[in-house]
Amino acid sequence: MKLSILLPTISTSFIVISAIFVAFGWYHIVKRNRRTHEKLMLWGAAFALAFFLIYASRTIFVGNTSFGGPEELKLAYHLFLFFHITLATLAGVFGIVTLLHAFKQRWFKHKRIGRITAIMWLLTAPTGVVVYILLYVLYPGGETKPMIDAIFGL
Ligand code: HEM
Repeated sequence: MKLSILLPTISTSFIVISAIFVAFGWYHIVKRNRRTHEKLMLWGAAFALAFFLIYASRTIFVGNTSFGGPEELKLAYHLFLFFHITLATLAGVFGIVTLLHAFKQRWFKHKRIGRITAIMWLLTAPTGVVVYILLYVLYPGGETKPMIDAIFGL
């Protein structure tokens, strides 16, 4: 497998693994298993961080892959990509706030924002997989471009 596909494959898998941890973490707090919730959510956060580090270093050192599919799908792809990136970024910020509330034991706030964080992350993962499939599975990945060009289809 080429490095240009290997890194996105690893980072997309990390989002999926992270979302699986978050889903089980949520299940366990509903069942009142606090210790298990804490451990699973910290693993979820670790995989999310690993995803972000791979994604950011690839963006800085290699660039992002542009869409290689048909011209008529380009606009829909970029709108969807933009939705996914916005959701992922918001979920990241909310995730940090959720963790801070937990570490400071502000449980009411943690619980309230934690639900939003978990839902956003559970949507980020499948939309990320769709972007991956559109970019590398259904169509051959296009050229590698600077981030802004790849996001906005320039
Ligand atoms: C980003 C990571 C995390 C997310 C997304 C998250 C999400 C949530 C959610 C959604 C709930 C409410 C469950 C419900 O009633 O539906 C909750 C409750 C709780 N979380 Fe987390 N959590 C995270 C990390 C942590 C960590 C690291 C700890 C421990 C230090 C923790 C401790 C708790 C506790 C004790 C509750 C129960 C609060 C109560 O019932 O008053 N969470 N969390």
